[in-house]
Amino acid sequence: MASEQNNIPAKMTAIAISEPGGPRVLKPETRDVPVPGPGEILIRVRAAGINRPDVQQRKGAYPPPPGASDLPGLEVSGEVAALGDEISRWRVGDRICALTPGGGYAEYVKVHAGSVLPLPAGFTHTEAAAVPENYFTVWHNVFERGALKRGETLLVHGGSSGIGTTAIQLASAFGAYVITTAGSQEKCDACLKLGADRAINYREEDFVAAVKDATGGKGANVILDMVGGDYVARNYQAAAVEGRIVQIATQSGAVASADFSKIMVKRLTHTGSTLRPRTVEFKAAIAAALEAQVWPLLATRKVAPVMDMIFPLKEAWRAHERMEDGDHIGKIVLDVG
Ligand SMILES: NC(=O)c1ccc[n+]([C@@H]2O[C@H](COP(=O)([O-])OP(=O)(O)OC[C@H]3O[C@@H](n4cnc5c(N)ncnc54)[C@H](OP(=O)(O)O)[C@@H]3O)[C@@H](O)[C@H]2O)c1
Repeated sequence: MASEQNNIPAKMTAIAISEPGGPRVLKPETRDVPVPGPGEILIRVRAAGINRPDVQQRKGAYPPPPGASDLPGLEVSGEVAALGDEISRWRVGDRICALTPGGGYAEYVKVHAGSVLPLPAGFTHTEAAAVPENYFTVWHNVFERGALKRGETLLVHGGSSGIGTTAIQLASAFGAYVITTAGSQEKCDACLKLGADRAINYREEDFVAAVKDATGGKGANVILDMVGGDYVARNYQAAAVEGRIVQIATQSGAVASADFSKIMVKRLTHTGSTLRPRTVEFKAAIAAALEAQVWPLLATRKVAPVMDMIFPLKEAWRAHERMEDGDHIGKIVLDVG
């Protein structure tokens, strides 16, 4: 039972996955407004970010973790609509953004309070909704798991993606030399504008040779990879001695053949993670680190989400079409109203 609440309807509009399939299976439905339990917050959603894992979920390839909503949507911004018990920091009406375990494509969503952050100063709701999923993911994988340090070189594949544009800006803001790959000159130019020191059009240039060339033969200290497949062996070649390779997706295939002697000879670490199934305590720890170290950079716009296109909630299918066409640069967001 919520201990504080504000004119909350019983029903809401949400976008559901009517069956596994193409973008048109995303259909508006009337659902019950969720009720926040202890430690949870009900958010009146104003905007929801689109992420590649939503596309995978729509196709039936990325089921929600146990206990999570069946609705898609991993990040939102909005206002606190109701508080469950045991919440001290937030008040009804506070403007916030949040990582959600699902359910973001809706007028209301409930989340654990540890996944909630204040709206970055000066941000619109559509901008703020574009932040959580990418910033949580990049913070953990590049800075915690990959342990990227000032003066080191980061190679980030898929530089024009939501994840890539975030990794370029954060690594650059924290003093790393940033090399990225992207599939067109236009995307490479966008990456350079965001602070990448070198952008490689992977359709025209071999990234291993380009990374060696850019680093005087040393290679990249950290590689953030969302491609997998034949990139696994090539990442081992492009990595520096003591390099850390962090796998966050395997878009070109989860099974690969590679020369593992490179791991021994260069003393490489190959690791990876997925954010969604992690515990609320783990997510709260990342939220605290982001608020302390990254929220000040968002407030001064030293880093900011790259906004691609905004679609109304009911046209979520168009947003998925745009993502699957692959022409976007940065974030696609739903305006929930
Ligand atoms: N592990 C986690 O916790 C976690 C969390 C969030 C997202 N992810 C993953 O991170 C990736 C990015 O997510 P997003 O939401 O930012 O998606 P997105 O904007 O759609 O980005 C997908 C990117 O993949 C790139 N790509 C595909 N094949 C490539 C190849 N062969 N070489 C280089 N780049 C290639 C595309 O670049 P081009 O158009 O230039 O080819 C595109 O920029 C997704 O795979 C997603 O599943 C993982």
